[in-house]
Amino acid sequence: MLVLGIESSAHTFGVGIVKDGEVIANEKSMYSIGTHGMLPSRVAEFHAKVAKKVIGNALQKAGVKIKEIEGIGYTKGPGIGTCLQIGLLAAKTLAYRLNVPIAPVNHAVAHIEIAKHFGKLKDPIALYVSGGNSQILKLDKLSMRYRVLGETLDIGVGNMLDSFARSANLDPAWGSTVERVAKGGSYMAMPYTVKGMDFTFTGLLTYAKRQIGKARIEDLCYSLQETAYAMLCEATERALLLTKSKELCVCGGVAQSTRLKEMLAKLASLHRTKFGYAPNEFNADNGAMIAYVAEKALKSGHAEKLDACTITQKYRIENAEVYI
Ligand code: FE2
Repeated sequence: MLVLGIESSAHTFGVGIVKDGEVIANEKSMYSIGTHGMLPSRVAEFHAKVAKKVIGNALQKAGVKIKEIEGIGYTKGPGIGTCLQIGLLAAKTLAYRLNVPIAPVNHAVAHIEIAKHFGKLKDPIALYVSGGNSQILKLDKLSMRYRVLGETLDIGVGNMLDSFARSANLDPAWGSTVERVAKGGSYMAMPYTVKGMDFTFTGLLTYAKRQIGKARIEDLCYSLQETAYAMLCEATERALLLTKSKELCVCGGVAQSTRLKEMLAKLASLHRTKFGYAPNEFNADNGAMIAYVAEKALKSGHAEKLDACTITQKYRIENAEVYI
């Protein structure tokens, strides 16, 4: 089946095309956040402006004509309302014009499923880490929904790193700047908060911000990153032991971090657990992961009626049924 997926939950407008479970195109256009952050109406305007071009680029990359598309997927949520609306509108228009079925997709499910696909995993513990999210999850085969085993009790690890980078006048590039500056740093003790399989980041962030100007920036970046990732690893290790799972994946924007993957690989090898993840292009927000999940939904007969297609800004992953 040839399925086109649209992702528009935040600053990325992404379009992916999947054919029988394999990604054949993954194009995107990203709103530049700069130092001013994201004004939802401006990002939505950006998405509306680039939508046609990104869809065209994806079709060209895949070498298919729009009339050959057999199904449409779109991000239902979670995300920014105005941005999700643009993706929904584009998806509904295509599904109506082409007269093909449409499937709404949970953004977090898509991140996990694409990591499973590329990591060649069947039933892993998933560490989902992005700007707004940090969760440890496992699929419950009875309800076919992901269960949240642990999660951040305040902010996502990506937002924490980004907020620190902004305060330190570093380039706010989703933690990648922190990772670059961290090289050559030495460890200094920082607040570390893990509660069972949950964790918090605001105490760590406040402490690190207060040290700006007092300690070397390399040491601060190194210690902040090591502490945050160690917290994620401890909670993930607990989830592995509790579930006796022998597979682990990491996904979401922060899964692009080389250091986090290094630490998780060590943890997995310690527990003789298979560790996998997607290439970085599929850890960042992308349309291919939406197309991938939509194809599974459509193939298993779970299309949504066009009139019933909506968005849900706070679409929790445990409320989304998974079709494998
Ligand atoms: Fe995401």
